[in-house]
Amino acid sequence: MRRIAHISDLHFGRHDARKVDALVDGLHRNSPDLVVISGDLTQRARRTEFHEARHFIDRLGRPVVLVPGNHDLPLYAVHQRFLQPLTKFNRLLAASNAADSYFEDSKLAVLGLNTARRLIWKGGRVSPEQMSTIRRVFANLPESVWKVLVTHHPLASVEGEPMIELAGRAKLAVRAVAQAGVHLLLSGHHHRAVAGGAEPRLVLNGSVLVVHAGTAVSTRTRHAEGNSYNWIELSPARAAITVMAWADPHFEPVRTTSYAFEPSSGRLHPV
Ligand SMILES: [Fe+2]
Ligand SMILES: [Fe+2]
Repeated sequence: MRRIAHISDLHFGRHDARKVDALVDGLHRNSPDLVVISGDLTQRARRTEFHEARHFIDRLGRPVVLVPGNHDLPLYAVHQRFLQPLTKFNRLLAASNAADSYFEDSKLAVLGLNTARRLIWKGGRVSPEQMSTIRRVFANLPESVWKVLVTHHPLASVEGEPMIELAGRAKLAVRAVAQAGVHLLLSGHHHRAVAGGAEPRLVLNGSVLVVHAGTAVSTRTRHAEGNSYNWIELSPARAAITVMAWADPHFEPVRTTSYAFEPSSGRLHPV
């Protein structure tokens, strides 16, 4: 079994400090194998905000895969946005050039890809090189390893839910996802927690679970949704996604969706 805390859109600078403390306490208690942070760690990519995000990550004391979001690129400092879009993110948050980051053990492989772009600040995009990376990183892993791709901008909508704006070239990217045998797509950006099968079923053939996260600790909640994060449990051939929603004074489980993966077809079924 592997347990992932999937948190997103913290927006330090517009955060609620009590919720940050409650989140850290909860993660200390539940001790996930990995924390995934799917972007928008800051509100305006300010140095002080990155320091707050760094402090938060240090307090977790767990392995972390993180990707930047559009808010982690300078918006108004146009010169900086065009010439050094990720300098502060890389220097203050990532150990190295971690715009794309990776975690692997015997049961789990998690690749984070940067979809934030300086020219299309809000929208995001996947590059052809990143599609090659998806195929290269996941293609030769054993079938027993859970394969997880993390982006800030979603690559797919959730079946049965409203269609949402996706990263540029998302259709091409999900072809790479299908070819690489990726099981889960984790993303943020829309500040709405929802999980299920992927909408482009013809491409993904029912084999990929799409998981969107809400905003964990920011005051930028939308759609009448409060703050939340996702707790993901991956055991052989079974995945369970639990939304952990803010219920003062802590986060608590509010709904769980479980799926079984059928090894022969590679398809997922709600259970
Ligand atoms: Fe956000
Ligand atoms: Fe965003």
